[in-house]
Amino acid sequence: MADRKTVFRCQQCGYVSPKWLGRCPDCKSWESLVEEVSYKSSEKELATGNPQNRPVALADIPAETEPRLLSGIGEWDRVLGGGLIAGSLVLLAGDPGIGKSTLLLQVLARLSQEKRVLYASGEESPQQLKVRALRLGVESPNLFVYSETSLEAVLDAVAQKPPHILVVDSIQTVHTRALEVAPGSVSQVRECASRLMRAAKETGVSIFVVGHVTKEGSIAGPRALEHLVDTVLYLEGDRTHTFRLLRAVKNRYGSTNEVGVFEMKEVGLEQVPNPSKLLLAERPKGVSGSVVACAVEGTRPLLVELQALVSATSWLQPRRTSMGVDSNRLSLLLAVLEKKLGLNFAQQDVFVNVAGGVRLVEPATDLAMTTALLSTYLDRPLPPEWVVWGEVGLAGEVRGVGHSSVRALEAQKLGFTRCLIPRSNAERLSPELEIECVGVKSLQDVMQLLF
Ligand code: TYD
Ligand code: MG
Repeated sequence: MADRKTVFRCQQCGYVSPKWLGRCPDCKSWESLVEEVSYKSSEKELATGNPQNRPVALADIPAETEPRLLSGIGEWDRVLGGGLIAGSLVLLAGDPGIGKSTLLLQVLARLSQEKRVLYASGEESPQQLKVRALRLGVESPNLFVYSETSLEAVLDAVAQKPPHILVVDSIQTVHTRALEVAPGSVSQVRECASRLMRAAKETGVSIFVVGHVTKEGSIAGPRALEHLVDTVLYLEGDRTHTFRLLRAVKNRYGSTNEVGVFEMKEVGLEQVPNPSKLLLAERPKGVSGSVVACAVEGTRPLLVELQALVSATSWLQPRRTSMGVDSNRLSLLLAVLEKKLGLNFAQQDVFVNVAGGVRLVEPATDLAMTTALLSTYLDRPLPPEWVVWGEVGLAGEVRGVGHSSVRALEAQKLGFTRCLIPRSNAERLSPELEIECVGVKSLQDVMQLLF
């Protein structure tokens, strides 16, 4: 058995010290030393490895050995790549309070109809978990809860009566005896995750690990774990809205292009089969500054309402506020509008918002944002039958984007009749589409066509 001791390793250059130091003596970076467990294997073990282990022909390895475990919640199963694989370690990350525990409990309730599930929570007492289960209407004799923060105790419980699925909620609250630093620190989080990974591979238990995304993002948060685990799922959304996106950002067993859509209800998260409809439900019509954009999340088109507002500023430095879109992108588009169309935003506060608390990251939303800005600047509403997508370049040109037929079909499905899209996309669309697609090459075209 390996002999265990802890060391402090510099996260920048790898320098190892037996004691903590404020500054790495080697690369001179500050506060970069983090405690780690170092396993000292005997020389003999290192030299021979595992004597049973041999190279095997790829052709001789059987394909998937066990069928994937389906929960019956379609959005969840799809994001996982078609169900859960035995022995996999899945990280479910997201802001605190976004609904990670809720979603997991709902999924586990389904899975535990056939499989034994152990839910280890370092955040809630069994009573609190019961209250949530009652609220969600979850009932299952195979679902065991364990309020515990010691990783050793959790692994012992797994060893004594192995479940099919283990949940650790959250990785920031569990700790291992091997390290002296507090739970939630980078070294604890990483050591616990790698111990769980080993347990998953050795025993074939599927493990879910919940990770809170910290404000700073990287510090001790799920980021430090992404490379360790098999699958990383992010649950996203704005806490003040009910809309939630489940996104696979890494998946060793499936595509990372999948997105699941849920809505937070009184009785937990509910799947949303038609997210565009939900997002557009409260759209005001005939109002300037409001434009329907079509984003593609993974392989799914999503129609969302983008709103812009321009108003005279009372500040020396006008304000630029963006919610749901990148603020740098907004500045860039404002600059293009000033330079290419001669608009003047110098004395104007500019606000951009995506309705429903959705975050749009695609450059394909540029054209919609620009159109919304034009519409509010000129105070001319866009007719409500339009959907807009396309990328805008620095020269004011409108560039083609991917998935245009998917977007057009979605718009058509929801009753829109006209799309404003890049000319290069319009030329290649299938002639069978009923929706009218108008191609534009530059912002000047947009101006002429719409305003
Ligand atoms: P939770 O799953 O505890 O979040 P996380 O584990 O990501 O920290 O969800 C917390 C929020 O979800 C809480 O503010 C209340 C809300 N909620 C509902 O709206 N409906 C429900 O049925 C449940 C259980 C929670
Ligand atoms: Mg929770």
